Amino acid sequence: MSAAAERRALPPDFDAGVADAALSGLMASPKTLPPKLFYDENGCRLFEAITQAPEYYPTRTERALLGAVAAEAVADVAPGSALVEYGASDEGKAMFLLDATDAFSAYVPIDIAAQGLASIVARLTRARPGLALHPVAADFLSPFTLPAAVAQAPRFGFFPGSTIGNLEPRRARSFLADARRLLGADARFLVGVDLRKDPAILVPAYDDAQGVTAAFNLNLLHRLNREAQADFDPDGFFHRALWNAQQSRIEMHLVSKRAQTVYVSGRRIVFAKGETIHSENSYKYAPEDFLSLAESAGWRGCNLWTDSARLFSLHLLRA
Ligand code: AVJ
Repeated sequence: MSAAAERRALPPDFDAGVADAALSGLMASPKTLPPKLFYDENGCRLFEAITQAPEYYPTRTERALLGAVAAEAVADVAPGSALVEYGASDEGKAMFLLDATDAFSAYVPIDIAAQGLASIVARLTRARPGLALHPVAADFLSPFTLPAAVAQAPRFGFFPGSTIGNLEPRRARSFLADARRLLGADARFLVGVDLRKDPAILVPAYDDAQGVTAAFNLNLLHRLNREAQADFDPDGFFHRALWNAQQSRIEMHLVSKRAQTVYVSGRRIVFAKGETIHSENSYKYAPEDFLSLAESAGWRGCNLWTDSARLFSLHLLRA
């Protein structure tokens, strides 16, 4: 095919950013894909379904915890503050904080899924007419700036969901240090962190009986077929979740059922039978381990809450 014909043959949903992100992982050894690729429209829907799965305790546990401690967590927020949420797929968790104080005058949801942000703005415009909304469509792991409108406001950072667990501890530390700079001198930062616990609880949370997590993981391949000009046979792979005790993390992989060759954006990717694509890490922290990580990034511990079963933790940090 001529270069021009090849260009014309690109699928309508081709996304060079997705293709580049996918290829750099798939051409590495071992093969990886970045977790941010999970969250296309289908992936967001599947993640939402995961949070309803009986085995997936983090979301319901964190929400119950937030309901119980929100008032205490925001007790000393200065009037006129901005609530800055990292990874705001919806406003549900932020609502606990917004409902617990009148001190927030602005809400800055940051998320990679622009569509989700639009829905948040639509709902909150009605539900919270007095609240200034400044959505930021960005990958919060890359450098970004806060909207000018909140540049002068005191800032309260919120990073729920244990999304910080996706990062290698070193990367988590640099993220926390970046957030410390971005949120400023008097900032607070409330971070939801899943706790290290018995693998008999952890593994099923990432391999639920209904297969929702498996579908979420395999959705990556469907997405690459659409957006990265790939020709994966999704039936040629299966989902695997495992506990890596050494690294204190759950790993998700897509395992190749057979030797096979796949093309991604014109590049040939060869899989041996049993070879995996490592698609996600979800690090689990003992409270003291997360606290020392945060301290090494310039934060100080201010408060810490866990549920009675010690499944999940909320760390309130101050600059
Ligand atoms: C949204 C990154 C926190 O690691 O628990 C859920 C994503 N992956 N099931 C997590 C996820 C598989 C989730 N985070």
